[in-house]
Amino acid sequence: MAAKMTSSIDTEKKLRHIAIIMDGNGRWAKRNGVERLEGHKAGEKSVRRVMDLAKEFDVEFLTLYAFSTENWNRSEEEVSGLMALLATSMKQNLDEMHQNGVRIRLSGRINGLPLLTRKILKHAEKKTSKNRKGNLILALNYGGRAEIADAAQAIAHDVKRGKLAPEDIDEQLFSTYLYLPDVPDPDLLIRTSGECRLSNFLNWQIAYSEFWFTETLWPDFGREDFQKAVDIFYNRERRFGGRKC
Ligand code: FPP
Repeated sequence: MAAKMTSSIDTEKKLRHIAIIMDGNGRWAKRNGVERLEGHKAGEKSVRRVMDLAKEFDVEFLTLYAFSTENWNRSEEEVSGLMALLATSMKQNLDEMHQNGVRIRLSGRINGLPLLTRKILKHAEKKTSKNRKGNLILALNYGGRAEIADAAQAIAHDVKRGKLAPEDIDEQLFSTYLYLPDVPDPDLLIRTSGECRLSNFLNWQIAYSEFWFTETLWPDFGREDFQKAVDIFYNRERRFGGRKC
């Protein structure tokens, strides 16, 4: 279906990639007098809603910050609940996503995830690897600094093995060592729940992204917010440092 955009569209820019920091599940749970895990479950419903919206608005890449390297500091109950939720959600929705041609990709230190969750997610990644009708990228056990450090380490190994010379290292080469080098940088970064921080998300990739923050808690995020974010994106002028205001 064609994207619904506002009238003053700059036809040269295309919203190909949206990255989202899905924040506010805990506060939503508190407000609704339920356990934190219920907030995450409501957040999972939001994920499915937003995937449908991404398809409708013809957004090719949707990256979701689902579990950060810092999230291990939460209670054992919350961490295992989240890991179980990720696994169940993937099991329940994989067939439909596959039929819709969605490619699922993982970004982060995936080997650090619990075995069962890892197996289910890696299976989904493999099964959908040839799909081309949209990309759902799950950032899991993800940290932007960790990603940069991992890239630096891999480059250092290649220099040591003689595969690369130090002079070969520039921005372009560096970016080929990131977790998903073929994925374009996000055009738009959204964070819900009124927090205005990056929280170690895609530090390298968001250099020129537009940011949009909303007070809406992630489980309440829906069409209205999504539309607003899209409108704001198309009404902002991106200059990539080329011109001053
Ligand atoms: C942040 O809210 C949210 C998370 C750390 C987890 C995100 C997980 C989901 C939305 C569930 C399932 C995801 C997928 C991809 C199926 P918070 O707990 O920090 O909220 P708070 O700041 O209000 O406490």
